[in-house]
Amino acid sequence: MNLPPCLSVRNGHLHIGRHDTVTLAARFGTPLYVTDEDRVRARYREVHAAFSSRYDRVRVLYAAKANGNPAILRALADEGSGADVFSAGELILALEAGMDPDRLLFNGSSKSPADLALAVEKGVRVSVDSLDELQSLDRIAGEAGETVEIAFRVNPALEVPTHPKIATGLRTSKFGIPASDILAAYRAALGCEHVRPAGIHCHIGSQILEVEPFARAISVMIDLAARLTDLGVRLRFIDLGGGLGIPYRRGTDPEPSFSDYASAVVPVFTEGVEEAGISPELWVEPGRYIVADSTILITGVNSVKEAHRRFVNVDAGFNLLIRPVMYGAYHGVVVANKADQAPAHRYTIAGPICETGDLLAEDRDLPAIARGDLIVVLDTGAYGFAMSSQYNGRPRCAEVLVRGSDAALMRRGETMDDLIAATERPPWQARR
Ligand code: LLP
Repeated sequence: MNLPPCLSVRNGHLHIGRHDTVTLAARFGTPLYVTDEDRVRARYREVHAAFSSRYDRVRVLYAAKANGNPAILRALADEGSGADVFSAGELILALEAGMDPDRLLFNGSSKSPADLALAVEKGVRVSVDSLDELQSLDRIAGEAGETVEIAFRVNPALEVPTHPKIATGLRTSKFGIPASDILAAYRAALGCEHVRPAGIHCHIGSQILEVEPFARAISVMIDLAARLTDLGVRLRFIDLGGGLGIPYRRGTDPEPSFSDYASAVVPVFTEGVEEAGISPELWVEPGRYIVADSTILITGVNSVKEAHRRFVNVDAGFNLLIRPVMYGAYHGVVVANKADQAPAHRYTIAGPICETGDLLAEDRDLPAIARGDLIVVLDTGAYGFAMSSQYNGRPRCAEVLVRGSDAALMRRGETMDDLIAATERPPWQARR
């Protein structure tokens, strides 16, 4: 079986780190997300080393949207990571986790005045996505008597091999300022009193399994950086965004490493900056690559039904993992308590949500499955819990963190009370 590195099979059971998933399910209940902290830390180190061994002025800004649990952010802060934050909430989470404001970048194509005011208050750099936003930020920073360092988000107009919903650098995407308008944008920023252009930013898309598109992106950025330097902008950083994917179909998908990525990008970068006579920092914003394979979703089997297909009805659906439904994404599955058994039938794993599309995995050859078995969905650390909802009146499940021989909750499961905790009773609805 082709498993992520933090998983193994012992005594017929799937283990994460040193922990038997069957024991974890009995202790914490299902559905349950479980993350191996050592794996997250190892991946961060791998990313950082891949760059810092090739260029000494590198920053890794973990994309907090992939998994914003404070325990994950804290572990990464401890490793020295910064963060790409995409909302006021992610900014607060990152600061709470102890991340240095100097290592954060506030991204986003639609920031409210309150978002911008928070960035100013916390002393965080902003990636500005429009001229309108530039004007708002200049005014808000001015009112606070501050000056904010910014980058502009560039739309590099690049086609990339990934799902169209997550190809963010397309000419037609909502993100960024077209490369042809970028010089004018920096000119406008140079004219602002309370904004200082300090960097340039792009992000071409997510779950990209080739490194060549990143080399193309950095060369677009370098070309712009040289022109901006001529314009009088002192660039302190070039931020290439995130996007390197992971092989969800292990053994079939290409498996580019961060070392492959860095060796495609850094030479283009160093040659370009030398030629332009500048020495900016190189920033990257990986999310998925750092956390995806550290985490599993354990889900219990409520029933098995032989109908048009052999359905395994489990207790987690797209309320907890929306990627298969939203992007047609593939996630490997393992029967946790029968992990050493040979496939017996072809199964489709179906969630409990009232929609036909609520399938976590289709047509998988698995050992004979019965009520009470445990299905583990692999590689769910990125955009798993982070995209969960309470749809269909389902409280979100717990998240457990393991490290060495320790296992502890990093988020309790929501209760039925949590379904109503934030609701209000309008005064005309008398309590009966
Ligand atoms: N930086 C920016 C500005 C981004 O928008 C993103 C992701 C990242 C970095 C991190 O990208 P990564 O390294 O994780 O590929 N929910 C989708 C993925 C959406 C990604 C959005 N932006 C999924 O489940 O595949």
